[in-house]
Amino acid sequence: MTNLESYLANYTETDWLAALDELLPCIHEVDKNAIQIWFRFYPLSLKRFIDAAEDREATLHGLAMQGVFELKDQIDTSHHFLYGHRYWKTVKAAIEAEAAVFTDQKHDLKEEVKQIGILVAEKLKVERSLVNAIVLVGLMTLNQVGLEAFNAATGEVEKPSGIMTKSPDAIVAERAKDDSQGVFGFLKTVNKKFSVTYTAANSSGKFPLLNEQEITAASANDRSQDWQSLDSRCWEGPVPVECTAASCGTCWVGVLGGQEKMTEVGRRERRAMKVFGYNQTDDATPFMRLACQARAMGNVTLVIPPWNAVFGKKVYNNIEEVELEPNTTSAKALRETIASATTGE
Ligand code: FES
Repeated sequence: MTNLESYLANYTETDWLAALDELLPCIHEVDKNAIQIWFRFYPLSLKRFIDAAEDREATLHGLAMQGVFELKDQIDTSHHFLYGHRYWKTVKAAIEAEAAVFTDQKHDLKEEVKQIGILVAEKLKVERSLVNAIVLVGLMTLNQVGLEAFNAATGEVEKPSGIMTKSPDAIVAERAKDDSQGVFGFLKTVNKKFSVTYTAANSSGKFPLLNEQEITAASANDRSQDWQSLDSRCWEGPVPVECTAASCGTCWVGVLGGQEKMTEVGRRERRAMKVFGYNQTDDATPFMRLACQARAMGNVTLVIPPWNAVFGKKVYNNIEEVELEPNTTSAKALRETIASATTGE
């Protein structure tokens, strides 16, 4: 292990999240939610829990793990939804160079990110606030995959497309906008229509949403593609879904823009997020949501994670007892696995 790897390995998930919080003022608005979501999508504690397991397969089964969850399988792509994704090749090279010379273990994680950020920003001639988030991603990725796998990734990324071709400020403004309701829009009450823009590992696009409709209900109406061929967790529409009742954890999403235009988190969603292990903040309208519970009253921009699981009890021991309220009949085996995943046994 290099010095840089052992330095990074000293930090817990809580330390990383604290460093991220301290760095937020130095991160451009365009990536503020994105970086916080990325850290929720790839939790270090879960990675360490799985690595420490004696029987890995049984552990994954016990956590009801579905989809692609390991960073080693997506070193160049996990951060596709960050503006800073376009700088990945340079960031990756800067971290590799740092790994070759790193000796100073005295300064903190935040300083380490800033130092690499300065070098990258100078090289690319861009604002530092646009690179700090992707540098953080790079260091955590190195921490989770090890230098050998990190070096082996090509660093190549696809060119930005759609809204991501605009300037950072224009992207922020675009995400805040709602669809026009027409000349007489001010007269409309219940029949307002909005758009949900989403990005996922294998797809991206937009679907319409009626005012105050649940995100999964709106997603289900999008029959434009064979969603299951893109992601086996997608039964109807681009948002993965199973129970539609806050009981399985399949439909978790990050909110890149418009979180304040969503309904407030209710008791059921709040508790379910803890059971699943998804790190939702205490805000009334946080940036991590269950799409089957959250409704929107305006345009929102979402990112869909490539996996889901139930690990709150086993990894964080964050719940005393579990009130599981499964009320669908379509996936008995999955529900049984989830029931065992939440007992902590
Ligand atoms: S679909 Fe099961 S929790 Fe939302």
